[in-house]
Amino acid sequence: MPVPLIERYRDRLPLEAGDPVVSLNEGSTPLIEAPRLSERLEVRTFLKFEGGNPTGSFKDRGMTVAVSRAKGRGAEAVICASTGNTAASAAAYAARAGLRGAVIVPEGKIAIGKLAQALMHGARVVALQGNFDEALQIVRELADKHPIELVNSVNPYRIEGQKTAAFEVVEELGEAPGALAIPVGNAGNVTAYWRGFQEVDAAPILYGFQAEGAAPLVHGSPVANPETVASAIRIGNPARWEEAMAAITDSRGRIAAVSDDQILDAYRWLASSEGVFCEPASAASVAGLFAYGLPVVDGAEPPESVVCVLTGHGLKDPDTALSKAPSVINCENDLSAVERAVFD
Ligand code: F0G
Repeated sequence: MPVPLIERYRDRLPLEAGDPVVSLNEGSTPLIEAPRLSERLEVRTFLKFEGGNPTGSFKDRGMTVAVSRAKGRGAEAVICASTGNTAASAAAYAARAGLRGAVIVPEGKIAIGKLAQALMHGARVVALQGNFDEALQIVRELADKHPIELVNSVNPYRIEGQKTAAFEVVEELGEAPGALAIPVGNAGNVTAYWRGFQEVDAAPILYGFQAEGAAPLVHGSPVANPETVASAIRIGNPARWEEAMAAITDSRGRIAAVSDDQILDAYRWLASSEGVFCEPASAASVAGLFAYGLPVVDGAEPPESVVCVLTGHGLKDPDTALSKAPSVINCENDLSAVERAVFD
């Protein structure tokens, strides 16, 4: 039987005894060995496919805990700012819990699948004439002013839920991986993985990757107008900045930037060479390894295995996929025409 994430790791999550379990059977996502990627990187490589979660991204891990706690506390509504995935997840878990949901997204800058999800789950979707960072500022103020639960990753229960991905990686491999590569946007997820690893005495090297046009952690200062094709990580002032940098430093890892072209190359390559379709932001983890390899601090041994976190499903963003994929071959209804189309 599938197990809700909260049941699987209840002893390591800070829920209260009376809290309901608001779950869609999230977590327990596939860890997929990647032979072609291993060959290219010359190290044993695995993909943690978080697109396998109920709403198609890792956000569900945090949302089940945050919404369960919110419901347990008697909240009637939840709100978030989002580049799309948090919105889809918050909307789904709010629906599941019987809570009202509101999501504030940057106008015209979220992938169409995510928008469809948030709307279908019945959230009130507000398209802000501003970017994610500005939307987050506004929802923080709204949550201070009104009885509504903020479910962005500034909510501590989100991080607690998301740390379970690190538990799963270690359980599935039977040991800690040597390294973990992960895209970084608002910096909650890298913070959560590090916490999870530390709780099971694991310390893989963390390689965090941002998009070149939205790389505040790489530059060391906020980016006022972040831009990237990877809309999920189009963020200029991450909320978990200090914790993320501490995690990367403590793990003896690195944060680096990858260009949109590098992201899109890795995105297509993963789909066509490994059969794994993730969204563009997720491919930043693989793009970064292609660009930089697996650097280690002076004198350290190179890692013997690496896990790339693929944070969201490729179906979230069909527009980017179709604009980058080869064309469909149109064909008349005739055997020899089809034959030519297939074999020529
Ligand atoms: N990958 C995907 C697919 C995401 O949706 C996000 C964040 C990240 C990576 C970065 O994770 O913010 O914890 O560093 N998406 C948020 C959202 C911001 O609103 O859906 P992070």
